[in-house]
Amino acid sequence: METKIFQAEELAYAAELLKRGELVAFPTETVYGLGADALLPESVKQVFQVKGRPSDNPLIVHVADFKMTEPFVDKYHPLTEKIVQHFWPGPLTLIFPIKKNSLSAVVTGGLSTAAFRMPDNKITIDLIKKTEAPLVGPSANTSGKPSPTTAQHVFHDLKGKIAGILDDGATQIGVESTVLDLSGEVPVILRPGAITKEQLEAVLQTEVLLDKHLVKESETPKAPGMKYKHYSPDTPVVMVRANDWEQAIAWAQQEQQRVGMLAGPAVGEKFATEDRYIFEDDTVEAATRGLYSGLRALDEAGQSDVILTQVFEESELGAAYMNRLKKAAGQKYFEKN
Ligand code: TXA
Ligand code: MG
Repeated sequence: METKIFQAEELAYAAELLKRGELVAFPTETVYGLGADALLPESVKQVFQVKGRPSDNPLIVHVADFKMTEPFVDKYHPLTEKIVQHFWPGPLTLIFPIKKNSLSAVVTGGLSTAAFRMPDNKITIDLIKKTEAPLVGPSANTSGKPSPTTAQHVFHDLKGKIAGILDDGATQIGVESTVLDLSGEVPVILRPGAITKEQLEAVLQTEVLLDKHLVKESETPKAPGMKYKHYSPDTPVVMVRANDWEQAIAWAQQEQQRVGMLAGPAVGEKFATEDRYIFEDDTVEAATRGLYSGLRALDEAGQSDVILTQVFEESELGAAYMNRLKKAAGQKYFEKN
């Protein structure tokens, strides 16, 4: 199969393909999604096949507006209106209990709840409207690889396996949406993202909990997808604390390991390494935007034996950045001895 790359003007054709049951990847503000019509179970099955994704991992249903969730949702949490008004469209996925049989078990993994999100990307909102159906959209990467933040990343992983990719340049945020479980009494964050616990609490004026596994690593996560080893390039990744760079690089040289650096300009200008991907600036926003792109670039270049990566404090957006980085690094920090 030839995988076509579509520009915004070719949207109608992309929607036509989705209606026919084909798979088309779409841009969002977080990462690129692998789209299929959520109401066509045979197409949704292909999404799992193409990605190599475990079938018990449920998908997010992407909608063009809040009203599109109504045919499926059984009961909305009392805070829903406030949350949607403040944060949709945006990088926040909401989990609600659904009406029995309103969505295929292929979409929900057989759960009695489902995940919904209205992405903040005009082209994709238009695509959903033109398709006249909600779209499932897991990240459009091969399972286990860093999520794609450009159309080229999607092409690299899925060329020949999907009908098309709608190209809208690099994504703004760079990591997947926050997943907020609204199926119980208290809102619970199952996956940290760009909408932070702090932001949610400020707007809702109530406590928002973190899923057990985000507090204690040995606990089983509630979002099935969070239990899989994720986001890992083939080259080993090691996290380096702010004051440890000099020793980390000295250690790598001693071990004859070629270093790929993934850090902001401030660290970058201090040390020479065999390969590097430098974030646009020293903020956590720039690091989050560049994280997956950097991991992919260093991994593919094959110029390094270890990727040394900058860490951030685990609050606000840093919580999302560190959640993904720790998985890529298998929790491994450089330790001085
Ligand atoms: O930013 C994003 O969310 C991207 C873009 C494309 O929208 N999509 C994305 O999808 O990251 P995916 O499939 O890679 O992640 C969905 C996460 C998984 O961890 C999954 O287990 C969880 O949401 N999830 C989906 N339905 C759920 C449910 N009913 N209960 C608990 N977790 C659920
Ligand atoms: Mg994913």
